[in-house]
Amino acid sequence: MTTDDITLHRGLAGVYFDRSATTFIDGKEGVLEYRGYNIDELAELSTFEETAYLLIHGELPTQTQLDNYDADLKGARELPEQIFDILALIKDSHPMDALRTAVSALAGFDPDRNDNSAEATIRKGLRLTSQVPSIVMAHHNIRAGKDPIKPSTTLNHAGNFLYMMDGKEPSAQAMNLMDKDFVLHADHGSNASAFTARVVAGTAADLHGAITAGIAALSGPSHGGAAENVMQMAREIGKAENAADYVQDLLSNRKRVMGFGHRVYKAEDPRAGHLREGVKDLSEEMGQPEWYRILEAVVDAMKPYTRRGIHVNVDFFAGVIYYLNGIPQDLFVPIFAVGRIPGWTIQVIEQFEHNILIRPLLQYTGKRNRKYVPIAERG
Ligand code: ACO
Repeated sequence: MTTDDITLHRGLAGVYFDRSATTFIDGKEGVLEYRGYNIDELAELSTFEETAYLLIHGELPTQTQLDNYDADLKGARELPEQIFDILALIKDSHPMDALRTAVSALAGFDPDRNDNSAEATIRKGLRLTSQVPSIVMAHHNIRAGKDPIKPSTTLNHAGNFLYMMDGKEPSAQAMNLMDKDFVLHADHGSNASAFTARVVAGTAADLHGAITAGIAALSGPSHGGAAENVMQMAREIGKAENAADYVQDLLSNRKRVMGFGHRVYKAEDPRAGHLREGVKDLSEEMGQPEWYRILEAVVDAMKPYTRRGIHVNVDFFAGVIYYLNGIPQDLFVPIFAVGRIPGWTIQVIEQFEHNILIRPLLQYTGKRNRKYVPIAERG
């Protein structure tokens, strides 16, 4: 084969590399289903705990199964003391870097270390689902010179996450929105971080390694980092009236409007609408309706681009919700990671089930057949 015969798929766009029975996405129609259940129903009717169970086990739980799963999650929230020491050593890191390091370190404390069976990976995934929120909020407090807050033994996953930020029990509305956000982020097919996790699992490395790598992939602004940048943009816009000029300025400088566009969705991201209502209600309730007005003004300014398939994505409305809940901007990406642990876990389990080394090719464009010149003879 000559290099002329090679068809490149840069960014692997449009390439199917394996099969999955977890998440269905129709990017043209804007449809997302976990295990065959539409995200619209799950966002409105399910909870994070139930959705996580569904993703991992393939079926919605009975009440007893859900109660047991919930109890297991609540029982796994504590972190080994040494993790707090590690977080203190790297307290000035970005929270995503701290999370990545702590998840990697947790591998050494896991009772199922060295066991990559499906059963052990499910147990590790459950523990990580509960430990990741504890890491994020422990680092948040340690960097502020405070002690980490002991996890609640009664609040649900979303409520406990918010509670561990400042030790205050969150409002029902804040908890419900956070819960919905976690449901919406729980899995999303072969996105960059899940693909990364699968590449690691493809070498038969363990779940902690795969999720550590997934967290690294998620941290970039083209993936999980967008919610943070949307909030930054909303602050810079300041008033809804400024949005059109701001957007025009970005686009005429060939810059991207954060929270818009998606590799797979060429219709509106089906997750975005569920958070849109949340921003509207929360910003009104908190007497700060301008945030919602700014976001809607950006959506209006981007309307001409919908013809090119550039619509709002899940990150567009998420940032303002976090902001209104008093969550600092650099915790926005870690929140995405908190929601995504079940998705990464099940994709690693699927990868293990019929494992194959993921090893694509690169088209070589460098020089060839060069003669080695001893260093004394180089000019
Ligand atoms: N603003 C302006 N133009 C855009 C945007 C955007 N947000 N997104 C895509 N485009 C344009 C590109 O400039 C490009 O135009 P061109 O053909 O004239 O050069 C065209 O649309 C196609 O863009 P690609 O980068 O090829 O599309 P790709 O599928 O690789 O990108 C991505 C997807 C990375 C998400 C992109 O849309 C983007 O950078 N968006 C902003 C960041 C963001 O919101 N990320 C969150 C993604 S969702 C998630 O991870 C949960």
